[in-house]
Amino acid sequence: MNGTTYLKEPVACSECERLEFARLVRQGFEGSDEGLEGRITDSRCLAFHYAPNATLAAIAGLKAPDARYRDDVFKQAEAPVSPADYELELGWVFVVPAHRGSRMGEGLCRQLLARVPNSCVFATTRPNNGVMIKILSALGFTRVGKPYRRRNEQLVLYLRSSPRS
Ligand SMILES: CC(C)(COP(=O)(O)OP(=O)(O)OC[C@H]1O[C@@H](n2cnc3c(N)ncnc32)[C@H](O)[C@@H]1OP(=O)(O)O)[C@@H](O)C(=O)NCCC(=O)NCCS
Repeated sequence: MNGTTYLKEPVACSECERLEFARLVRQGFEGSDEGLEGRITDSRCLAFHYAPNATLAAIAGLKAPDARYRDDVFKQAEAPVSPADYELELGWVFVVPAHRGSRMGEGLCRQLLARVPNSCVFATTRPNNGVMIKILSALGFTRVGKPYRRRNEQLVLYLRSSPRS
């Protein structure tokens, strides 16, 4: 993929970078406004991909969601594992439409996961999001449990276990 990728902990990001990240999250994910700045600050790592013209073309994040949200997701999906083992969530994967199909989405996710090789990670997606499901499968995630509803949309849970488990 052409351009430059940065992976940064939120504390190492400038105010401008955090705002730009939040702008793309809002562009890609309706209804994710509530507490967004705080969730970005609390996350483990943020990935930014800038196009050669220096515009932000893609983002992804390793979130550290609160236990209540995580427990609820695992319960709703009837996942046969303990949510406490999955502290990180891969999410906010968004590629600006003009840049799609160049494997930026997969590239950012792969680089984020390489930062946490020994962590169990979960992700959720709509069951009809074929591209995201392809990316998750390529990165070693497997689907568990059953589809569930959250904020008026149907979602499915994917898990990547750590090599030690
Ligand atoms: C999902 C998204 C991040 C993918 O980003 P991307 O950089 O365009 O995806 P990639 O180029 O990495 O493509 C990944 C794979 O999916 C394939 N693919 C493309 N369109 C597809 C489709 N409609 N169905 C299935 N696979 C598809 C690609 O060919 C590629 O496979 P390959 O590696 O075997 O060639 C991007 O489409 C997006 O921002 N969507 C809106 C936000 C979103 O849905 N985010 C995920 C929320 S969980």
